[in-house]
Amino acid sequence: MTEHIRDDFDQQAQQPQKHFHVLVLGAGVMGQRHIASMREVAEKILAPRGITLDIAAVDKSEAARAALPPAVKSYADMDAALAAQKPDIALMAFNDDQHISAFRKLFDACPDLKAVLAEKPLTEHLREAREIEPELRKRYLSMNTVANFSPVFDRLREELPKLEAQTGGNLRPLGFEAIWGKNRTADTRPSIGVPSESVHALSIIADMFGHGRLSMEAGDARKGYLSTKATDVIYEIDATFRSGKTGVPALFHASYVFESQHRTVTAYYRAADNSVVAAELDFDVKHNGQNADRLRLHRIDASSGKVETLLDEYPDKIVNGAPQGVLRGDRITAFISLSLTDFLTPPQKRDPALAARLSNLDAALEVQGEVEQINPQNRLLRTVQVDADPQKLDKPKYTSIADAPADEVKGRLSALEALQKPAPPRPAWKPPVRH
Ligand SMILES: NC(=O)c1ccc[n+]([C@@H]2O[C@H](COP(=O)([O-])OP(=O)(O)OC[C@H]3O[C@@H](n4cnc5c(N)ncnc54)[C@H](O)[C@@H]3O)[C@@H](O)[C@H]2O)c1
Repeated sequence: MTEHIRDDFDQQAQQPQKHFHVLVLGAGVMGQRHIASMREVAEKILAPRGITLDIAAVDKSEAARAALPPAVKSYADMDAALAAQKPDIALMAFNDDQHISAFRKLFDACPDLKAVLAEKPLTEHLREAREIEPELRKRYLSMNTVANFSPVFDRLREELPKLEAQTGGNLRPLGFEAIWGKNRTADTRPSIGVPSESVHALSIIADMFGHGRLSMEAGDARKGYLSTKATDVIYEIDATFRSGKTGVPALFHASYVFESQHRTVTAYYRAADNSVVAAELDFDVKHNGQNADRLRLHRIDASSGKVETLLDEYPDKIVNGAPQGVLRGDRITAFISLSLTDFLTPPQKRDPALAARLSNLDAALEVQGEVEQINPQNRLLRTVQVDADPQKLDKPKYTSIADAPADEVKGRLSALEALQKPAPPRPAWKPPVRH
């Protein structure tokens, strides 16, 4: 009898689950995109492996529910959705301020929930993310730091070693300039302000370039009325961060009062021949009428400030785990495809190269801690209270290094040089004197 039960049990354990209930929380801008990508991944990647997804969505807005494809069941609130079916996989795409209460409800009602795919930021505050950390640790988690799926990083990984060889070897990181923002003064979606936007630039520097544990050293911020659903938020920061891992500085200007969208991260390196190499990455720019990311590599003569652009391209080969052309080539689809593939692969068989492209719980918590420093209580951030003025929009602090006059280029390099810190002298350890 006991043997018989054990046989059944073993057999069950060996049978991987083939059918999954997915609940998408929020069918707004992002939720709709996730659902479209998930349906495509289900059809083209999972179905051939005998895996099926049953997708449902929750949204309080009737218009959002009406825009869903007929095959997606929809509910006006979480209670109704959870009463109808407990999900195996949940995808969080509610507005930021709703994430924590929705996570609490989800974990209470669904002890068997297996995976969480989440829009950034995980929660509005780090303390909330810490509160649900034990529940998240029991499950698979992947957070969508969407820019990290950009093909510019793959191209940079190919090109940087070549440039290193040309300049005598050993490119030493000097620092970063990052610009991230747009005009959100007329946006009617709820917003917590630029901390939400900053996740992207900071996680690019921390995760993609490896200069993690970013802490703010100093900065200025503006806080006040931004738009109808962001009535008292930090809407602009101009701050210096430093990586606790590598000591490299990052100058970061983020704003919701830019006159148009700007998303650029520039990494500077000192080359062995004393020139400076800059890798400039622009995200979500228009190229041939399409949304694209751009990679430029510049070599700078540090003494004259003269910039020579060595490479300028718009790479479009997004790694999403499928052969080129099978799935649509956007970054949301890459997030969904790579996350589901990673989750559905037994942990011991997961491909570390694929996992390295995803933000797991540790990466999500780390970036949450970094972003959390952008708050009015942080004494390192001088915050002034002033409402945003849609008539007076700003330009980003840094233009492309390729468009900057030589004197400005020299000034920008000197600013980064001035932020280089020698490693603090370490006094030799002496054993305590015993009497
Ligand atoms: N990764 C990225 O690049 C990126 C870009 C934009 C937004 N986001 C994030 O995605 C999330 C969603 O943003 P969005 O732009 O899709 O916003 P949105 O306002 O378009 O969509 C959110 C939807 O959730 C619904 N909703 C919110 N709270 C609810 C609740 N308690 N019950 C039922 N329905 C509820 C709203 O009705 C709305 O339709 C946010 O966390 C945002 O920060 C990420």
